[in-house]
Amino acid sequence: MTKYKIAWLPGDGIGVDVLEAAKIVLDKIGLDAEYIHGDIGWEFWCKEGDAFPERTIDLLKNVDAAMFGAVTSKPGKAAQAELTPELQKLGPTYRSPIVRMRQMFGLYNCLRPCKAYPGNPLNYKEGIDLVVFRENTEDLYSGVEFNPVPAALAEILTKVSKPFIPFSTLPLDQYAVSCKINTRKGSERIVRVAFEFARKFKRKKVTIVHKANVVRATDGLFLEIAKEVSKSFPEIQFDDANVDAMTMWLLKNPFNYDVLVAPNLYGDIISDLCAQMVGGLGFGCSGNIGDKLAVFEPTHGSAPKYAGQYKVNPIATILAVKMMLDWLGEGEKGCMVEKAVANIIKEGRVRTYDMGGKATTLEMAQAIAAKM
Ligand code: IPM
Ligand code: MG
Repeated sequence: MTKYKIAWLPGDGIGVDVLEAAKIVLDKIGLDAEYIHGDIGWEFWCKEGDAFPERTIDLLKNVDAAMFGAVTSKPGKAAQAELTPELQKLGPTYRSPIVRMRQMFGLYNCLRPCKAYPGNPLNYKEGIDLVVFRENTEDLYSGVEFNPVPAALAEILTKVSKPFIPFSTLPLDQYAVSCKINTRKGSERIVRVAFEFARKFKRKKVTIVHKANVVRATDGLFLEIAKEVSKSFPEIQFDDANVDAMTMWLLKNPFNYDVLVAPNLYGDIISDLCAQMVGGLGFGCSGNIGDKLAVFEPTHGSAPKYAGQYKVNPIATILAVKMMLDWLGEGEKGCMVEKAVANIIKEGRVRTYDMGGKATTLEMAQAIAAKM
């Protein structure tokens, strides 16, 4: 019996390339684990009408953690056209498997550390070290959406809307509604986890990112709860900012920030911004963490145009491996992986194309493994 069971979910496109690279590092570090392949992604949507089949859901119920590559998400009509004729008749709708996974398994904490490793030619500024905590299960990602709008909902909306807002006189198929739903529990737990992290790692400041000046109900609730939670952490500076201003200030002076916490959609957006400041998609790593299960992935997508070319930078995924090791309680191994990555970046001998070099995905992984 191995110590850990890890679900292995490469998915589509470069998800396959980068997980192969991750495996090189895990094998070298000698984690006592069994890696169990799970089907996920475009292929299964086309064949079965489900990009996240039941058997993969069952697999995730029985593992300690998972590594996830990426999946392709096509827009509605293009997706429909690729289904088998039988499935086209049934008319299933495509929903992102990763979003479903986060909600289904309560992976509420999307943790996205963004650190500028010294010597990375892609660093926006040396010394950036931000950590984004993104709420991962609710908000505009709730999946409660209407297009066309059902009459019963239209009736309620018309009653509460102001006369100068034009939708109330429109036919039901002339507008659409996406619900931003934020709960007390969901908001509280992500803010708390961010403050606890700040306390544990002696971070100075936690900044809440919102748009409570306009989106009063949901973001107002998020901010109100954050203020309450912050009272239990008096040694940590509490700060908040509107998301639009935040993007400007982050670029202007990233050193004014430390730990950032945001509801789902703003967290999605600012985590891409922060990843870009530390080298772009080749460096953004991500943990989807719940109380029982955690799924680790690079922040980037499946990049179909690079699929199978072994060209992309695997560092994001290798840093996700580091996060998984930490979460499993294998911090020493996690630290070794991070040090090896930092060394390779600093040396500058082995670089993938995004860094201006010629190394392949697997050569980069091998170089990192050789440092451990
Ligand atoms: C991310 C991605 C996903 C998201 C997509 C692929 C559904 O952008 O993990 O940040 O929006 O959460
Ligand atoms: Mg994103």
